[in-house]
Amino acid sequence: MNKIIVAIDGYSSCGKSTIAKALAKYAGYTYVDTGAMYRAIGLYTLRHGLTTEAAILAALPKIQIGFILADGAQHVTLNGEDVEAHIRTLEVGNRASEISQIKEVRAFLVAQQQQMGLQKGIVMDGRDIGTVVFPQAELKLFLTASPEVRAQRRFDELKEKGGQPVYEEVLKDVNDRDYRDTHRAESPLRQADDAIVVDNSHLTREEQMEVIYKHFENACK
Ligand code: DC
Repeated sequence: MNKIIVAIDGYSSCGKSTIAKALAKYAGYTYVDTGAMYRAIGLYTLRHGLTTEAAILAALPKIQIGFILADGAQHVTLNGEDVEAHIRTLEVGNRASEISQIKEVRAFLVAQQQQMGLQKGIVMDGRDIGTVVFPQAELKLFLTASPEVRAQRRFDELKEKGGQPVYEEVLKDVNDRDYRDTHRAESPLRQADDAIVVDNSHLTREEQMEVIYKHFENACK
């Protein structure tokens, strides 16, 4: 069967990575979480106290992002260190959103992402995969869910990790991040013209995957 590229874009916390992982497993494809790459750079800038754009750009050549398989899951590495446990906080998410607005940071990561897709057989999720990274992807999915549903999901996730989130703050964070992701000058989040929209506000995981597997099978024909 033909190997294809699957590009999954959408707002934060609408389950992109869960869906992308499940589809990659179903298809026997490689999964790439591009948000983790932006988060790893965000973590680097926080750790090194880099706040200006000039300082961040000067540091880029010193940053190496990779992926490893650990305990059966994909973990992102920053200069060889497994940083998966450190990148899922609100602080790192917000910094990732900020640094993702810098043109050179995007070019730095987009080049690496395009390299990863050369052999096809890849499911990549992010914000600009169907529009910038792989405009030629055979299957483009654009996921959405209401801000309230996404805030509740993120709230549950943070709580499960032992945090003490406040729902109103999480909702504000979701709305702020949506605004930044869709209004930035560089590659703003937008639906590719040929993307298939999946609103999962009211779908169970199983219902949603059924829809997505069907789209995948059709795209492979
Ligand atoms: O999907 P996520 O929440 O892990 O992404 C973290 C941030 O990185 C998000 O605010 C937007 C940015 N991002 C991006 O600009 N482009 C991508 N392809 C992936 C993520």
